[in-house]
Amino acid sequence: MSKKITIAIDGFSSTGKSTLAKQLAKHLGYVYVDTGAMYRAITLFAMQNGYITADYFDKETLINSLPSIRLHFEFNPELGFAEMFLNGVNVETEIRTIEVSNFVSKVAEVSEVRAKLVEQQQSMGKDKGVVMDGRDIGTVVFPKAELKVFMTASPQTRAQRRFDELQAKGQKVSFEEVLKNVEERDYIDTHRDDSPLRKAEDALELDNSHLTREEQFAAVLEMVEKVTKSI
Ligand code: DC
Repeated sequence: MSKKITIAIDGFSSTGKSTLAKQLAKHLGYVYVDTGAMYRAITLFAMQNGYITADYFDKETLINSLPSIRLHFEFNPELGFAEMFLNGVNVETEIRTIEVSNFVSKVAEVSEVRAKLVEQQQSMGKDKGVVMDGRDIGTVVFPKAELKVFMTASPQTRAQRRFDELQAKGQKVSFEEVLKNVEERDYIDTHRDDSPLRKAEDALELDNSHLTREEQFAAVLEMVEKVTKSI
């Protein structure tokens, strides 16, 4: 049997990271971890408790509450992936709303939040055989990952994808609002002091404005096979 490796998939929002990561994990029999879901769950917690609104963010109280926040994933065989639980409650649907998307980058800037989540992510991936997607997986969480992929696509392509997904879920939102959210998140994610989004030097870059899902999957799978043989 070939050795298990760690696969880090980073990139901008709505580049299709999670689709590729899920597909890879399923094919390889690996565990898939959506780290964005963890930042979203903390954001939902902050919203539910009134710590964050459009013009207010009580960072200190959120930081003080962090020890009481429990996050875990549970595999749903019907969906074929793990769902996010916040303090024992399934929040998979609530964390995908545009409201959570609007606040999540602010919460993800907080170093104490990042430290808590990075520690949990490192523990989830300690036995390898994991595909983890996010913004800092190849640079901070698993800098020694055997395979790193960095995904990009134009803001318009990504906003269109996100808009279609939200519409399919029946959420009322305009394309302009989604594009604005994508551009704001890109800015905050790439400019924050702690672990800004950037391509690790040794990451394979995939621009999926020009590649089909099948082509991306085939390219990454080829890399997985190459890396697995070489260790
Ligand atoms: O992948 P996503 O869009 O669900 O991520 C939501 C937000 O969480 C994103 O705006 C940036 C943040 N994030 C992060 O800072 N680090 C990660 N490893 C994953 C997500």
